Amino acid sequence: MNDVMSLSQRADALEENMARQLDYIVIKSRLYTLADGDMSPPPNAGELMKKHPNAHVIMGDDPRLPEMPAKPTLADFFKYRFGPSAHLLQSARHAVKGGLSEKMVLACLLHDISTIGFIRGDHGYWGAQMVEPYVDEEVTWAIRAHQVLRFYPDESVGYEYPQAYLTAFGEEYRPDPYIEADYRRMRDHKWYMSGRMITVHDIYSFDPTVKVELDEFTDIIGRNFRQPEEGLGFDNSPVAHIWRTIIRPAKYL
Ligand SMILES: [Fe+2]
Ligand SMILES: [Fe+2]
Repeated sequence: MNDVMSLSQRADALEENMARQLDYIVIKSRLYTLADGDMSPPPNAGELMKKHPNAHVIMGDDPRLPEMPAKPTLADFFKYRFGPSAHLLQSARHAVKGGLSEKMVLACLLHDISTIGFIRGDHGYWGAQMVEPYVDEEVTWAIRAHQVLRFYPDESVGYEYPQAYLTAFGEEYRPDPYIEADYRRMRDHKWYMSGRMITVHDIYSFDPTVKVELDEFTDIIGRNFRQPEEGLGFDNSPVAHIWRTIIRPAKYL
């Protein structure tokens, strides 16, 4: 018995020792280096592994990031992966005060999740795609549309071209032709006003002392976001891979 114990203890010690020596090699996706304006070829993983024989490229959980539950929920992504979400929480509360329906409050809560958790450019299109299997079609449509409608005023609801855009993009900025084309399609759509409502509640000038917690929307999420039982990323949906990429953004393959 003692021998068996010592054998397993030895095995544990060996494993511990290996784990200590085991390092990891991060090879970034092309997109990340392009975003740095870097066109150089990626580091040679083979060469790196020769230099660090105990190191591997990342294929499992990323040791640098907070661990995620095996079956992550939308709230887990807010908690463990997304950047600051005050803008989304305040927009959603603003939408509640404005008397919007629950599903439109959810749309306001989620409208910029791509910006805070995934990719900025075309964030409305990405964000809509991320949630498409889990929300009402109108929510997806509205999230996609807000990306476009933000650039176009609508006097009927008092929406003006954002002052912040003048500062950020310059006076001369005009939306890309594909945005313009989408605007023409969207303004006659039956859900136009839903997309427009996100822009109305898409507030940037709010009281920074007001704290809104995600818990405030737990019930609305519960009733309007079809959280997959297997967890976001593991439900075999057409967008599961996007959520997995957020969980393990430096996965080698
Ligand atoms: Fe946005
Ligand atoms: Fe926004």
